[in-house]
Amino acid sequence: MAGSIRKLAAQYFQLVDLQHLALPPGPVLVQPDVQAAIYERMFNETTVFPIPPANYRSRVLKLILSRIEESITDPEEDEINDDLMECWTELVAQPKQSAVQQAQQLSFIKYTAPAETKTETGSVTQYANIERSVITSESRGLILSAGTTGFRTWEAALHLGSFLASEAGKAIVRNKRVIELGAGTGFLSLVCARYLGVRSVVVTDREPALIDNMRECVPHNLDNGRSIPIYPAVWEWGTPLERTGDLAGLASGEDEGESIKFDVALGADLIYDTDIIPLLLSTVRDLFENYHIEHFIIAATLRNEDTFRTFLNGCETNNFNVETLPFESTPSQDQTGFFHSTSIPIRTYRISRK
Ligand SMILES: C[S@@+](CC[C@H](N)C(=O)[O-])C[C@H]1O[C@@H](n2cnc3c(N)ncnc32)[C@H](O)[C@@H]1O
Repeated sequence: MAGSIRKLAAQYFQLVDLQHLALPPGPVLVQPDVQAAIYERMFNETTVFPIPPANYRSRVLKLILSRIEESITDPEEDEINDDLMECWTELVAQPKQSAVQQAQQLSFIKYTAPAETKTETGSVTQYANIERSVITSESRGLILSAGTTGFRTWEAALHLGSFLASEAGKAIVRNKRVIELGAGTGFLSLVCARYLGVRSVVVTDREPALIDNMRECVPHNLDNGRSIPIYPAVWEWGTPLERTGDLAGLASGEDEGESIKFDVALGADLIYDTDIIPLLLSTVRDLFENYHIEHFIIAATLRNEDTFRTFLNGCETNNFNVETLPFESTPSQDQTGFFHSTSIPIRTYRISRK
């Protein structure tokens, strides 16, 4: 029973569009224990955190209630759960926000990782039931806010998160000192710090408001109350990475007096504008030459061939090797977590020095 709403709940906490929600079939939804589980796991405001914004909640609940109503065959026997009905009455009574207000609102979003799969000899696939999720704070309706595109998590980050959460991906970051560039909401770094066994992850962006936002999210992502090794820092490409604030602690714990060192750099959806590519590449060169990284793992949404070609040409000029990693996006309808559209191809690359 819990399995029948696992995917629906994971999509709901990620605020997935209604048309993509995996609603259980009517005969399952009319079952009293399924309705009770939907209320407890998704709509009970006293126990559920983070709860999606009221307007999204009411749209999802309306969809669920209408599916239940359609499936009632015996009105004497089949009923709609009282808690769900009461919740619906409360939601419709709430004042409506304008579309602009809704778009500007920062909300906590919970992203659940794809179910872990392991292929054993003989191709037996095992699914682990442990839920791995991280919470970010973002404004999903905004493409560009306060001059940055970083107030929402982009498809490439969800794709790279899916790769890093796989066995092959984990091997790249486990026990490593990681730095993320242009991290936006910090989604990838939170996944690394919470679940992937990194030694440390320095999560950077040029926009101070995004870094404040990430710092506020960290307490919602602790490991059973224990701290996680994540260090948010403002870093604009082309400027020195200051060893102050959160990084001062990291420096004294690791290699006091020496320059800070990393093993792996990560980046998602950073190649969208030809103007920023030279700066990004000079920063990657700086990371190879002065910060010790072995490779830069990126996920790119291939929106514009010319923009990506500019990036590849820049890699050639800088003597970087670009290797495509053999990780394909799972088609949207088959995804079990970190849900994202695959309508525009997303590729993962490992960039190293020749
Ligand atoms: C499209 S968003 C991607 C955010 C995040 N990586 C994701 O995929 O969800 C690009 C990010 O790069 C950051 N960025 C752009 N130019 C930058 C620069 N010169 N220095 C540092 N960060 C930069 C932006 O602030 C923004 O957060």
